[in-house]
Amino acid sequence: MAVDLLLGLQWGDEGKGKIVDVLTQDYDIIARFQGGPNAGHTLEFDGIKHVLHTIPSGIFHKNAVNVVGNGVVIDPVIFKKELDALKKFNLDINSKLFISRKAHLILPTHRLLDAASEASKGKAKIGSTLKGIGPTYMDKTGRNGMRIGDLELSDWKEKYRSLANKHEAMINFYDVDIQYDLAELEADFFKAVEELKLLTFIDSEEYLYQAQKAGKKILAEGAQGSLLDIDFGTYPFVTSSNTTAAGACTGLGVAPNQIGAVKGIFKAYTTRVGSGPFPTELFDEDGETMARVGNEFGATTGRPRRCGWLDLVALKYAVRVNGVTELMMMKGDVLSGFNKLKICTAYHYKGEQIEHFPYNIEAENVTPVYSEMDGWKEDLTNMTSADQLPKALNEYIAFLEKELEVPIKIVSVGPDRTQTILK
Ligand code: GDP
Ligand code: IMO
Ligand code: MG
Repeated sequence: MAVDLLLGLQWGDEGKGKIVDVLTQDYDIIARFQGGPNAGHTLEFDGIKHVLHTIPSGIFHKNAVNVVGNGVVIDPVIFKKELDALKKFNLDINSKLFISRKAHLILPTHRLLDAASEASKGKAKIGSTLKGIGPTYMDKTGRNGMRIGDLELSDWKEKYRSLANKHEAMINFYDVDIQYDLAELEADFFKAVEELKLLTFIDSEEYLYQAQKAGKKILAEGAQGSLLDIDFGTYPFVTSSNTTAAGACTGLGVAPNQIGAVKGIFKAYTTRVGSGPFPTELFDEDGETMARVGNEFGATTGRPRRCGWLDLVALKYAVRVNGVTELMMMKGDVLSGFNKLKICTAYHYKGEQIEHFPYNIEAENVTPVYSEMDGWKEDLTNMTSADQLPKALNEYIAFLEKELEVPIKIVSVGPDRTQTILK
Protein backbone atom coordinates (compact mmCIF):
# COMPACT_ATOMS: atom_id res chain seq x y z
CA MET A 1 0.00 0.00 0.00
CA ALA A 2 1.48 3.37 -1.00
CA VAL A 3 1.91 6.20 1.49
CA ASP A 4 0.08 9.42 0.55
CA LEU A 5 1.40 12.86 1.46
CA LEU A 6 -0.37 16.07 2.47
CA LEU A 7 1.85 19.15 2.21
CA GLY A 8 1.57 22.93 2.44
CA LEU A 9 2.60 24.67 -0.78
CA GLN A 10 3.05 28.24 0.48
CA TRP A 11 4.55 29.73 3.68
CA GLY A 12 2.58 27.50 6.05
CA ASP A 13 -0.88 27.84 7.61
CA GLU A 14 -2.62 26.71 4.43
CA GLY A 15 -5.14 24.65 6.43
CA LYS A 16 -3.27 21.33 6.73
CA GLY A 17 -4.81 20.52 10.10
CA LYS A 18 -8.35 20.92 8.81
CA ILE A 19 -7.78 18.80 5.71
CA VAL A 20 -5.90 16.02 7.51
CA ASP A 21 -8.83 15.81 9.94
CA VAL A 22 -11.26 15.63 7.00
CA LEU A 23 -9.20 12.96 5.20
CA THR A 24 -8.50 10.78 8.23
CA GLN A 25 -11.75 8.85 7.70
CA ASP A 26 -10.04 7.31 4.63
CA TYR A 27 -6.79 6.37 6.42
CA ASP A 28 -5.60 3.97 9.13
CA ILE A 29 -2.49 5.91 10.11
CA ILE A 30 -1.58 9.61 10.13
CA ALA A 31 2.16 10.29 10.46
CA ARG A 32 3.87 13.66 11.01
CA PHE A 33 7.29 13.66 9.36
CA GLN A 34 9.09 16.92 10.18
CA GLY A 35 8.97 20.18 12.07
CA GLY A 36 8.00 20.59 15.68
CA PRO A 37 5.82 22.81 17.82
CA ASN A 38 6.54 25.77 15.55
CA ALA A 39 3.55 24.29 13.70
CA GLY A 40 0.02 25.18 14.71
CA HIS A 41 -2.57 23.03 12.96
CA THR A 42 -6.17 24.06 13.52
CA LEU A 43 -9.21 21.84 13.16
CA GLU A 44 -12.81 22.60 13.93
CA PHE A 45 -15.82 20.36 14.41
CA ASP A 46 -18.92 20.30 16.60
CA GLY A 47 -18.36 23.99 17.33
CA ILE A 48 -14.97 23.40 18.97
CA LYS A 49 -11.65 24.64 17.64
CA HIS A 50 -8.51 22.60 18.37
CA VAL A 51 -4.92 23.65 17.76
CA LEU A 52 -2.30 20.90 17.55
CA HIS A 53 1.44 21.54 17.46
CA THR A 54 3.19 18.17 17.46
CA ILE A 55 0.39 15.62 17.64
CA PRO A 56 -0.89 14.62 14.18
CA SER A 57 -4.26 15.97 13.10
CA GLY A 58 -5.92 12.54 12.93
CA ILE A 59 -6.00 12.24 16.71
CA PHE A 60 -9.76 12.86 17.06
CA HIS A 61 -10.71 9.88 14.90
CA LYS A 62 -11.27 6.70 16.91
CA ASN A 63 -9.91 4.28 14.34
CA ALA A 64 -6.74 6.03 13.27
CA VAL A 65 -3.28 5.57 14.74
CA ASN A 66 -1.17 8.73 14.86
CA VAL A 67 2.61 8.53 14.55
CA VAL A 68 5.12 11.24 15.39
CA GLY A 69 7.93 10.33 13.00
CA ASN A 70 11.71 10.39 13.34
CA GLY A 71 11.96 13.68 11.42
CA VAL A 72 9.95 15.57 14.03
CA VAL A 73 11.51 17.48 16.94
CA ILE A 74 9.60 17.21 20.21
CA ASP A 75 9.43 19.61 23.13
CA PRO A 76 8.17 17.54 26.10
CA VAL A 77 6.80 20.66 27.82
CA ILE A 78 4.61 21.63 24.83
CA PHE A 79 3.73 18.01 24.19
CA LYS A 80 2.45 17.67 27.75
CA LYS A 81 0.27 20.76 27.27
CA GLU A 82 -1.15 19.25 24.10
CA LEU A 83 -1.90 16.01 25.91
CA ASP A 84 -3.53 17.91 28.78
CA ALA A 85 -5.80 19.72 26.31
CA LEU A 86 -6.88 16.34 24.89
CA LYS A 87 -7.69 14.77 28.26
CA LYS A 88 -11.31 15.88 28.26
CA PHE A 89 -11.93 14.01 25.01
CA ASN A 90 -11.19 10.61 26.59
CA LEU A 91 -9.05 9.42 23.70
CA ASP A 92 -7.14 6.20 24.28
CA ILE A 93 -3.80 7.93 23.79
CA ASN A 94 -1.58 4.91 24.46
CA SER A 95 -3.10 2.89 21.65
CA LYS A 96 -3.65 5.84 19.27
CA LEU A 97 -0.45 7.84 19.51
CA PHE A 98 3.03 6.42 18.90
CA ILE A 99 6.31 8.30 19.00
CA SER A 100 9.44 7.45 17.05
CA ARG A 101 12.46 6.62 19.18
CA LYS A 102 14.53 8.46 16.59
CA ALA A 103 12.69 11.79 16.96
CA HIS A 104 14.92 14.47 18.53
CA LEU A 105 14.21 16.30 21.76
CA ILE A 106 13.95 20.07 22.12
CA LEU A 107 15.64 21.03 25.41
CA PRO A 108 14.82 24.23 27.31
CA THR A 109 18.27 25.53 26.34
CA HIS A 110 17.44 25.04 22.65
CA ARG A 111 14.61 27.53 23.11
CA LEU A 112 17.00 29.95 24.85
CA LEU A 113 19.53 29.54 22.05
CA ASP A 114 16.81 30.37 19.52
CA ALA A 115 16.04 33.57 21.45
CA ALA A 116 19.75 34.47 21.73
CA SER A 117 20.34 33.84 18.03
CA GLU A 118 17.36 35.96 17.01
CA ALA A 119 18.30 38.78 19.41
CA SER A 120 21.84 38.82 17.99
CA LYS A 121 20.52 39.22 14.44
CA GLY A 122 18.74 42.52 15.12
CA LYS A 123 16.83 43.66 12.03
CA ALA A 124 17.90 40.56 10.08
CA LYS A 125 16.00 38.27 12.43
CA ILE A 126 14.11 35.36 10.89
CA GLY A 127 10.97 35.93 12.91
CA SER A 128 11.30 32.45 14.41
CA THR A 129 8.52 31.09 16.57
CA LEU A 130 11.29 30.74 19.21
CA LYS A 131 10.38 27.11 19.88
CA GLY A 132 13.99 25.96 19.62
CA ILE A 133 13.57 24.40 16.19
CA GLY A 134 16.78 25.70 14.53
CA PRO A 135 19.10 24.84 17.46
CA THR A 136 17.57 21.36 17.82
CA TYR A 137 18.03 20.50 14.14
CA MET A 138 21.57 21.95 14.39
CA ASP A 139 22.33 19.50 17.19
CA LYS A 140 20.76 16.70 15.14
CA THR A 141 22.90 17.33 12.05
CA GLY A 142 25.90 18.16 14.26
CA ARG A 143 25.45 14.69 15.81
CA ASN A 144 25.05 16.02 19.33
CA GLY A 145 21.29 15.74 19.76
CA MET A 146 19.20 13.78 22.25
CA ARG A 147 16.53 11.46 20.96
CA ILE A 148 13.33 10.06 22.40
CA GLY A 149 15.00 6.63 22.58
CA ASP A 150 17.66 8.09 24.91
CA LEU A 151 14.95 8.56 27.54
CA GLU A 152 14.77 4.76 27.85
CA LEU A 153 18.44 4.66 28.92
CA SER A 154 19.54 5.11 32.52
CA ASP A 155 22.11 7.82 31.76
CA TRP A 156 19.85 10.23 29.90
CA LYS A 157 20.11 12.94 32.56
CA GLU A 158 23.91 12.94 32.23
CA LYS A 159 23.58 13.35 28.48
CA TYR A 160 21.10 16.13 29.09
CA ARG A 161 23.43 17.90 31.54
CA SER A 162 26.43 17.91 29.27
CA LEU A 163 24.40 19.20 26.31
CA ALA A 164 22.67 21.88 28.42
CA ASN A 165 26.05 23.02 29.81
CA LYS A 166 27.36 23.41 26.29
CA HIS A 167 24.26 25.39 25.34
CA GLU A 168 24.75 27.75 28.30
CA ALA A 169 28.28 28.50 27.11
CA MET A 170 26.88 29.17 23.63
CA ILE A 171 24.20 31.51 25.02
CA ASN A 172 26.95 33.50 26.76
CA PHE A 173 28.87 33.64 23.50
CA TYR A 174 26.00 35.53 21.85
CA ASP A 175 26.46 38.40 24.31
CA VAL A 176 22.78 39.41 24.28
CA ASP A 177 20.50 40.08 27.20
CA ILE A 178 18.44 36.92 27.66
CA GLN A 179 16.87 36.58 31.11
CA TYR A 180 16.09 33.05 32.26
CA ASP A 181 15.86 30.77 35.25
CA LEU A 182 17.23 27.45 34.05
CA ALA A 183 16.36 25.61 37.27
CA GLU A 184 12.70 26.48 36.78
CA LEU A 185 12.74 25.56 33.09
CA GLU A 186 14.44 22.26 33.92
CA ALA A 187 11.91 21.41 36.61
CA ASP A 188 9.12 21.77 34.01
CA PHE A 189 11.14 19.84 31.46
CA PHE A 190 11.89 16.87 33.76
CA LYS A 191 8.26 16.69 34.85
CA ALA A 192 7.10 16.72 31.23
CA VAL A 193 9.65 14.06 30.27
CA GLU A 194 8.23 11.73 32.94
CA GLU A 195 4.79 12.16 31.38
CA LEU A 196 6.16 11.64 27.89
CA LYS A 197 7.77 8.38 29.03
CA LEU A 198 4.31 6.98 29.77
CA LEU A 199 3.53 7.11 26.04
CA THR A 200 4.28 4.41 23.48
CA PHE A 201 7.73 4.75 21.86
CA ILE A 202 8.28 2.74 18.69
CA ASP A 203 10.77 2.04 15.92
CA SER A 204 8.49 3.96 13.60
CA GLU A 205 10.11 2.99 10.29
CA GLU A 206 9.57 -0.69 11.16
CA TYR A 207 6.02 -0.03 12.33
CA LEU A 208 5.16 1.83 9.13
CA TYR A 209 6.81 -0.83 6.97
CA GLN A 210 4.75 -3.59 8.60
CA ALA A 211 1.60 -1.47 8.38
CA GLN A 212 2.18 -0.91 4.68
CA LYS A 213 2.75 -4.62 4.15
CA ALA A 214 -0.49 -5.36 5.97
CA GLY A 215 -2.35 -3.06 3.56
CA LYS A 216 -2.92 -0.17 5.97
CA LYS A 217 -3.56 3.23 4.44
CA ILE A 218 -1.06 5.84 5.60
CA LEU A 219 -1.20 9.62 5.21
CA ALA A 220 1.93 11.64 5.97
CA GLU A 221 1.13 15.07 7.42
CA GLY A 222 3.53 17.89 6.60
CA ALA A 223 4.15 20.94 8.71
CA GLN A 224 5.09 24.46 7.57
CA GLY A 225 5.09 24.91 3.80
CA SER A 226 7.29 24.46 0.74
CA LEU A 227 8.51 28.07 0.76
CA LEU A 228 9.83 27.50 4.29
CA ASP A 229 11.81 24.40 3.23
CA ILE A 230 15.45 24.52 4.37
CA ASP A 231 16.68 23.88 0.80
CA PHE A 232 13.95 25.21 -1.49
CA GLY A 233 12.42 27.95 0.65
CA THR A 234 13.31 31.63 0.85
CA TYR A 235 16.57 30.98 2.69
CA PRO A 236 17.57 32.10 5.31
CA PHE A 237 13.95 33.03 6.14
CA VAL A 238 12.91 29.40 6.39
CA THR A 239 12.54 26.69 8.98
CA SER A 240 15.19 24.03 9.61
CA SER A 241 13.65 20.93 8.03
CA ASN A 242 12.71 19.67 4.57
CA THR A 243 9.03 20.48 4.39
CA THR A 244 8.77 19.18 0.82
CA ALA A 245 7.83 15.68 -0.34
CA ALA A 246 11.32 14.21 0.00
CA GLY A 247 11.20 15.12 3.71
CA ALA A 248 8.46 12.54 4.18
CA CYS A 249 10.85 9.79 3.04
CA THR A 250 13.64 10.78 5.42
CA GLY A 251 11.24 11.84 8.17
CA LEU A 252 9.42 8.50 8.26
CA GLY A 253 11.79 5.98 6.65
CA VAL A 254 9.44 5.43 3.71
CA ALA A 255 11.21 4.71 0.41
CA PRO A 256 10.57 7.13 -2.50
CA ASN A 257 9.01 4.36 -4.60
CA GLN A 258 6.40 3.84 -1.87
CA ILE A 259 4.93 7.34 -2.16
CA GLY A 260 1.44 7.45 -3.72
CA ALA A 261 -0.69 10.58 -4.00
CA VAL A 262 0.94 13.93 -3.17
CA LYS A 263 -1.82 16.22 -1.96
CA GLY A 264 -0.78 19.86 -2.11
CA ILE A 265 -2.73 22.44 -0.19
CA PHE A 266 -2.84 26.21 -0.78
CA LYS A 267 -4.87 29.23 0.19
CA ALA A 268 -6.74 31.08 -2.57
CA TYR A 269 -4.47 34.01 -1.65
CA THR A 270 -1.10 34.06 0.14
CA THR A 271 -0.01 34.63 3.73
CA ARG A 272 3.28 34.65 5.56
CA VAL A 273 4.12 35.04 9.24
CA GLY A 274 7.61 36.13 10.31
CA SER A 275 10.23 37.92 8.22
CA GLY A 276 11.37 37.32 4.66
CA PRO A 277 10.50 38.27 1.09
CA PHE A 278 6.89 38.10 -0.11
CA PRO A 279 6.48 39.56 -3.63
CA THR A 280 2.66 39.76 -3.70
CA GLU A 281 2.30 41.18 -0.19
CA LEU A 282 -0.37 43.88 0.10
CA PHE A 283 -0.10 46.93 2.33
CA ASP A 284 -3.50 48.33 1.40
CA GLU A 285 -7.17 47.82 2.17
CA ASP A 286 -7.32 44.58 0.17
CA GLY A 287 -4.60 43.05 2.37
CA GLU A 288 -6.39 44.27 5.49
CA THR A 289 -9.65 42.71 4.26
CA MET A 290 -7.95 39.34 3.73
CA ALA A 291 -6.39 39.50 7.20
CA ARG A 292 -9.68 40.48 8.86
CA VAL A 293 -12.04 38.14 7.01
CA GLY A 294 -9.51 35.29 7.02
CA ASN A 295 -8.73 35.89 10.70
CA GLU A 296 -5.08 35.74 9.80
CA PHE A 297 -3.28 35.37 13.11
CA GLY A 298 -0.63 32.68 13.74
CA ALA A 299 -2.00 29.58 15.49
CA THR A 300 1.25 29.15 17.47
CA THR A 301 2.39 32.70 18.24
CA GLY A 302 -0.76 34.79 17.65
CA ARG A 303 1.25 37.14 15.41
CA PRO A 304 -0.66 38.81 12.54
CA ARG A 305 -0.03 37.11 9.22
CA ARG A 306 1.06 39.21 6.24
CA CYS A 307 -1.42 38.84 3.35
CA GLY A 308 -1.27 39.18 -0.43
CA TRP A 309 -2.52 37.92 -3.78
CA LEU A 310 -2.00 34.39 -4.96
CA ASP A 311 1.52 33.91 -6.32
CA LEU A 312 1.34 31.38 -9.15
CA VAL A 313 5.07 31.56 -9.85
CA ALA A 314 5.78 30.35 -6.32
CA LEU A 315 2.90 27.87 -6.41
CA LYS A 316 4.08 26.28 -9.67
CA TYR A 317 7.55 25.91 -8.16
CA ALA A 318 6.09 24.18 -5.09
CA VAL A 319 3.93 21.88 -7.23
CA ARG A 320 7.03 20.79 -9.17
CA VAL A 321 9.40 20.34 -6.24
CA ASN A 322 6.81 18.18 -4.48
CA GLY A 323 5.44 16.28 -7.49
CA VAL A 324 1.91 17.27 -6.47
CA THR A 325 -0.75 14.99 -7.95
CA GLU A 326 -3.85 16.73 -6.56
CA LEU A 327 -4.58 20.15 -5.14
CA MET A 328 -6.78 21.54 -2.40
CA MET A 329 -7.77 25.20 -2.39
CA MET A 330 -8.54 26.71 1.00
CA LYS A 331 -10.27 29.87 2.19
CA GLY A 332 -12.02 30.69 -1.08
CA ASP A 333 -14.76 32.14 1.16
CA VAL A 334 -12.37 34.88 2.31
CA LEU A 335 -12.21 36.30 -1.23
CA SER A 336 -16.01 36.73 -1.53
CA GLY A 337 -16.80 40.39 -2.15
CA PHE A 338 -13.68 41.47 -4.05
CA ASN A 339 -14.64 43.02 -7.42
CA LYS A 340 -11.42 41.94 -9.07
CA LEU A 341 -8.89 39.34 -8.04
CA LYS A 342 -5.23 39.48 -8.99
CA ILE A 343 -3.02 36.47 -9.63
CA CYS A 344 0.73 36.85 -10.01
CA THR A 345 1.67 34.93 -13.17
CA ALA A 346 5.25 36.16 -13.71
CA TYR A 347 7.99 38.23 -12.07
CA HIS A 348 9.87 41.24 -13.43
CA TYR A 349 13.34 40.16 -12.42
CA LYS A 350 16.45 42.22 -13.05
CA GLY A 351 15.02 43.79 -16.22
CA GLU A 352 13.43 40.64 -17.65
CA GLN A 353 10.09 38.92 -17.29
CA ILE A 354 10.49 35.40 -15.87
CA GLU A 355 8.06 32.65 -14.96
CA HIS A 356 10.29 30.53 -12.72
CA PHE A 357 11.07 31.04 -9.05
CA PRO A 358 14.55 32.61 -8.95
CA TYR A 359 17.35 32.56 -6.34
CA ASN A 360 16.39 36.00 -5.00
CA ILE A 361 12.83 37.18 -4.60
CA GLU A 362 13.48 40.25 -2.46
CA ALA A 363 11.55 43.39 -3.46
CA GLU A 364 14.67 44.96 -4.99
CA ASN A 365 14.91 42.01 -7.44
CA VAL A 366 11.32 41.03 -8.07
CA THR A 367 8.13 42.87 -8.99
CA PRO A 368 5.03 40.75 -9.54
CA VAL A 369 3.23 40.75 -12.91
CA TYR A 370 -0.51 40.25 -12.40
CA SER A 371 -3.41 38.83 -14.37
CA GLU A 372 -6.83 40.05 -13.28
CA MET A 373 -10.00 38.02 -12.92
CA ASP A 374 -13.55 38.81 -11.90
CA GLY A 375 -14.40 38.22 -8.27
CA TRP A 376 -17.59 36.75 -6.81
CA LYS A 377 -20.02 38.23 -4.30
CA GLU A 378 -21.73 35.12 -2.95
CA ASP A 379 -21.12 33.88 0.58
CA LEU A 380 -19.61 30.41 0.13
CA THR A 381 -19.65 29.31 3.74
CA ASN A 382 -22.99 27.46 3.55
CA MET A 383 -22.37 25.82 0.21
CA THR A 384 -22.05 22.06 0.30
CA SER A 385 -21.57 20.92 -3.28
CA ALA A 386 -19.53 21.90 -6.32
CA ASP A 387 -22.61 22.80 -8.39
CA GLN A 388 -23.41 25.65 -5.98
CA LEU A 389 -20.08 27.42 -6.49
CA PRO A 390 -20.33 30.78 -8.31
CA LYS A 391 -19.29 31.00 -11.96
CA ALA A 392 -16.43 33.42 -11.25
CA LEU A 393 -14.99 31.04 -8.63
CA ASN A 394 -15.18 28.16 -11.09
CA GLU A 395 -13.30 30.32 -13.59
CA TYR A 396 -10.65 31.13 -10.97
CA ILE A 397 -10.28 27.40 -10.25
CA ALA A 398 -10.17 26.47 -13.95
CA PHE A 399 -7.45 29.08 -14.56
CA LEU A 400 -5.33 27.68 -11.73
CA GLU A 401 -5.81 24.07 -12.86
CA LYS A 402 -4.72 25.00 -16.39
CA GLU A 403 -1.64 26.87 -15.18
CA LEU A 404 -0.63 24.29 -12.57
CA GLU A 405 -1.57 21.25 -14.68
CA VAL A 406 -2.96 19.51 -11.58
CA PRO A 407 -6.65 19.10 -10.65
CA ILE A 408 -8.14 20.89 -7.64
CA LYS A 409 -10.01 18.13 -5.79
CA ILE A 410 -11.16 19.98 -2.68
CA VAL A 411 -12.44 23.53 -2.25
CA SER A 412 -12.66 24.60 1.38
CA VAL A 413 -15.24 27.26 2.22
CA GLY A 414 -14.84 27.67 5.98
CA PRO A 415 -12.86 26.40 8.97
CA ASP A 416 -15.29 23.64 9.96
CA ARG A 417 -14.91 20.01 8.93
CA THR A 418 -18.26 20.21 7.14
CA GLN A 419 -17.31 23.28 5.08
CA THR A 420 -15.43 21.15 2.58
CA ILE A 421 -16.52 20.71 -1.03
CA LEU A 422 -15.30 17.72 -3.02
CA LYS A 423 -14.96 18.33 -6.74
P1 GDP B 1 -2.15 24.77 9.14
O1 GDP B 1 -0.96 25.21 9.92
O2 GDP B 1 -1.83 24.54 7.69
O3 GDP B 1 -2.86 23.60 9.74
O4 GDP B 1 -3.16 26.00 9.15
P2 GDP B 1 -3.54 26.89 10.45
O5 GDP B 1 -4.43 26.11 11.31
O6 GDP B 1 -2.34 27.48 11.06
O7 GDP B 1 -4.28 28.10 9.75
C1 GDP B 1 -5.40 27.93 8.95
C2 GDP B 1 -6.54 28.76 9.56
O8 GDP B 1 -7.58 28.89 8.62
C3 GDP B 1 -7.16 28.10 10.77
O9 GDP B 1 -7.63 29.10 11.64
C4 GDP B 1 -8.34 27.33 10.17
O10 GDP B 1 -9.38 27.12 11.10
C5 GDP B 1 -8.77 28.27 9.08
N1 GDP B 1 -9.35 27.65 7.88
C6 GDP B 1 -9.03 26.48 7.28
N2 GDP B 1 -9.71 26.34 6.13
C7 GDP B 1 -10.50 27.43 6.01
C8 GDP B 1 -11.41 27.88 5.01
O11 GDP B 1 -11.64 27.25 3.99
N3 GDP B 1 -12.01 29.09 5.23
C9 GDP B 1 -11.77 29.84 6.33
N4 GDP B 1 -12.41 30.99 6.46
N5 GDP B 1 -10.91 29.44 7.29
C10 GDP B 1 -10.27 28.27 7.12
P1 IMO C 1 2.39 25.38 10.20
O1 IMO C 1 2.73 23.90 10.24
C1 IMO C 1 3.69 29.41 9.31
C2 IMO C 1 7.86 30.40 10.16
C3 IMO C 1 8.16 31.35 11.30
C4 IMO C 1 9.44 31.97 10.81
C5 IMO C 1 10.15 30.82 10.15
C6 IMO C 1 11.14 30.09 11.03
O2 IMO C 1 1.40 25.81 11.20
O3 IMO C 1 2.06 25.77 8.80
P2 IMO C 1 11.06 28.55 13.20
O4 IMO C 1 10.17 28.53 14.39
O5 IMO C 1 11.01 27.31 12.40
O6 IMO C 1 12.45 28.97 13.58
O7 IMO C 1 10.50 29.73 12.25
O8 IMO C 1 9.13 29.90 9.76
N1 IMO C 1 7.06 29.22 10.55
C7 IMO C 1 5.78 29.06 10.21
N2 IMO C 1 4.94 29.88 9.53
N3 IMO C 1 3.27 28.19 9.71
C8 IMO C 1 4.11 27.34 10.35
O9 IMO C 1 3.77 26.07 10.62
C9 IMO C 1 5.41 27.79 10.66
N4 IMO C 1 6.47 27.23 11.30
C10 IMO C 1 7.47 28.12 11.21
O10 IMO C 1 7.12 32.30 11.44
O11 IMO C 1 9.17 32.93 9.82
MG1 MG D 1 -0.40 26.75 11.21
